[in-house]
Amino acid sequence: GELDLTKTRPRTNTQGRIYSHHSTRITDAQVNQECFEKIRLLGKGDVGKVFLVREKTSSRLYAMKVLNKKEMIERNKIKRALAEREILATSNHPFIVTLYHSFQLQDSLYLCLEYCMGGEFFRALQTRESKTIDEEDAKFYAAEVTAALEYLHLLGFIYRDLKPENILLHQLGHIMLSDFDLSKQSGSIRNPEIQLNKTHSSSSAHIDTKACIDGFRTNSFVGTEEYIAPEVIKGKGHTSAVDWWTLGIFIFEMLYGTTPFKGKDRKATFGNILKKEVRFVDTKNVSSSCKSLIRKLLIKDEMKRLGSKMGASDIKNHPFFKNTQWALLRNQKPPMIP
Ligand code: ADE
Repeated sequence: GELDLTKTRPRTNTQGRIYSHHSTRITDAQVNQECFEKIRLLGKGDVGKVFLVREKTSSRLYAMKVLNKKEMIERNKIKRALAEREILATSNHPFIVTLYHSFQLQDSLYLCLEYCMGGEFFRALQTRESKTIDEEDAKFYAAEVTAALEYLHLLGFIYRDLKPENILLHQLGHIMLSDFDLSKQSGSIRNPEIQLNKTHSSSSAHIDTKACIDGFRTNSFVGTEEYIAPEVIKGKGHTSAVDWWTLGIFIFEMLYGTTPFKGKDRKATFGNILKKEVRFVDTKNVSSSCKSLIRKLLIKDEMKRLGSKMGASDIKNHPFFKNTQWALLRNQKPPMIP
């Protein structure tokens, strides 16, 4: 049948909120590619491209993700595309890119996303004198990613492969998570109170696990393997704890400029992820509370990992975040402005 990824639910229905920063929003029926002027390519994925576009009537900039239907079908990525659109259409969070419109033509699906001017977080880092970040600044970014992951988990989504390319910088310097094509919805319960205590059973993850094995076969993990959690490599089911693992890798990379399990090739990296304990080369004066958090996030056994019991609050209550004012993050001045 006809693939219909275009029924973007109005925001007003999903969250009881209306767009606050997009007052002239037109309904999807009126939106098509004619409304946009292509400016340049922002990035390429395995089934599509992301372009910077300008909406003609408003002159607003957006990131337009164009997904090729034929490629998606051939590469078995329909479920992922649906999952991505579902997540984006459902979420309404300051650190998660907003989906404004979606529509389709015969060959392609179009996702009109919030444009993150700062681009990829780690690429922005490359342009600075020091490629690593001070612990205090790293704490700010770690907190923002934690808040975004907490929100996704509450909605019943697991990001699963948070990777550096998907961590973008908003023009004001805040973190923005994008690219949810490997996430999945972990059950249909949307009630946060229920969801908080719900563990995601591996049986509910079967589609996703298959996707993961397909992913390895088709080499779609190239370049991102350093962030993969042990249970994903093993291809067993997984829980939201998978995202707390990747948070640990992210914090380590910000502080040390490299990932903890990087090997000479993918096989070596995977071996390290499965077996090697994280080690800190300490020329950096990283605090013991920070190292303690990283160690707890990088526990191989997902059942023992920080975040596996009480979810995000396990992480938020760790001494590393003692002075973090979670509710005020979005109003805080970010350490680096793109
Ligand atoms: N690359 C991929 N998605 C993007 C976005 N939303 N903003 C900027 N660059 C991107």
